[in-house]
Amino acid sequence: SVVLLWLFILLLFFFIRVRRPKNFPPGPRPLPILGNLLQLDPVNPLKNLEGLKRRYGNVFSLYIGSRPAVVLNGLEVVREALVTRAAEYAGRPTHMMVSHLFKGKGIVMANYGSSWRDHRRFALTTLRNFGLGKRSMEERILEEVSHICTELESSAGAVSHTQRPSGSMDPQHLFHLAASNIICSLIFGERFEYDDPVILTLIQRLEEFTKEAIGPWAMLYEIMPVLRPLPLPFRNVFHKFDQMKEHIKKVVTKHKSSRVAGEPRDLLDCYLDQIDKTADGGSTFNDTQMVSLLLDLFIAGTDTTSNTLRSAMLYLMTNQHVQDRCHREIAEVLEGRADASFEDRHAMPYVQATIHEAQRMSDTVPLSVFHTTCSNTQIHSYQLPQGTTVIPNLSSVLHEEGQWKFPHEFNPENFLNEVGEFVKPEAFLPFSAGSRVCLGEGLARMELFLVLVTLLRRYRFVWPEDGGVPDFSLIFGGTQSPKPYRLGVRLRSSEELPTVSTREP
Ligand code: HEM
Repeated sequence: SVVLLWLFILLLFFFIRVRRPKNFPPGPRPLPILGNLLQLDPVNPLKNLEGLKRRYGNVFSLYIGSRPAVVLNGLEVVREALVTRAAEYAGRPTHMMVSHLFKGKGIVMANYGSSWRDHRRFALTTLRNFGLGKRSMEERILEEVSHICTELESSAGAVSHTQRPSGSMDPQHLFHLAASNIICSLIFGERFEYDDPVILTLIQRLEEFTKEAIGPWAMLYEIMPVLRPLPLPFRNVFHKFDQMKEHIKKVVTKHKSSRVAGEPRDLLDCYLDQIDKTADGGSTFNDTQMVSLLLDLFIAGTDTTSNTLRSAMLYLMTNQHVQDRCHREIAEVLEGRADASFEDRHAMPYVQATIHEAQRMSDTVPLSVFHTTCSNTQIHSYQLPQGTTVIPNLSSVLHEEGQWKFPHEFNPENFLNEVGEFVKPEAFLPFSAGSRVCLGEGLARMELFLVLVTLLRRYRFVWPEDGGVPDFSLIFGGTQSPKPYRLGVRLRSSEELPTVSTREP
């Protein structure tokens, strides 16, 4: 009977042909059940996508299991879908493991509709304007930066310009904690010490969760729904997700007992006020949505920013001339002042160019978050039925030939015009575009600027002598990250340092 079963499976593979819908974008021939998964390297499918783009053009399709997905490459196509036809491409898949985890609640995996719209608007206005109590977003970020400095000076050795060689440290953990603290400060009103067990546990859950939620078991979950009720490792992901939710629920309970209505300290308090205001029914604001929103912001705002910071440091360490030029510009603009402000970016074209270039090369969310079509639509001359999964290949735009002076190398000149002014090419889309564009773009840009400006002003970062050969390749996951490395830290000599000491927390 085993032989018969194998024969049956072989017959299935050879004789059942998966057919693309009419006028659907072309692509490689899929196998039944598996689709084109065998043609994609699970460790890093970006190279395979690049090969398929060369073969089929900027719009092609492939099968993830039995479902077709359309991959969009290059600025023109990505913009046509996400911006020109924004409303038609603004849905989210409902069949993936992450969709089932989030159950369409919150923002990131919420389908295009009134609840998504209400929550997106609420989070944007709360983060942008008021509602965060007495302390602004900028102040909260600067507070965290002062903790990063303290930590750099203790973990990397008591760095001083007189001590050579410099101390070094792996910045992964520090940047992760700092990014998560900034989000926690905004949404929960508190940051945590870098050795606080609460934040360490939450971060560990997040790391495990992100690894497993996009790993091979998640793929199996997706392509073989019959396996879902079985006690296989993917149940772990659901368990970890629930643990994170439980943690958030505890913070909510604590907040409810200590809040004063109408006097919010953070985004959570603002949400509770919002529930009160709309309690007369018909509102999409409620406790369940609140927990999902808080989890969304925590998850979406941690890895992304910290991986970008790590990439930036890698490029800065290995390009001393760029670092020195940034330092000179920063020192000049901030002369006599304690802290940088986000407004200073307008007077720092080279620093701006460097940060944007680091972000382009860090390519942190290469395939965006998958979209789906909300109605029957088209792209180029192809027809896409409602519900088609769409993968915007942002990586292809960030390195597209013809859009960049130096598409494949780190060079701040990509963002400078002939007279040295900062210019942002349209192909700079690390946050995606259109109605689903990253909600945290403003926050992330402010974080990157204030963290990097403060650190570059105070320290020189050097590649440690025992650091081996720098490796710029990225580890692919939900987000991309550089491989672990050690950061050499040296305090700049006193004449290079700010005349006013950096702020105390
Ligand atoms: C969505 C990138 C930081 C919150 C996204 C998307 C990308 C992205 C590519 C998908 C957009 C789409 O579906 O087309 C990044 C990068 C970041 C960053 C590169 C840092 C360098 C943040 C931060 C927050 C955040 C700090 C927290 C406030 C979100 C949310 C969404 C999102 C809530 C879902 C938006 C929606 O579906 O309407 N981000 N992100 N992100 N991001 Fe970010």
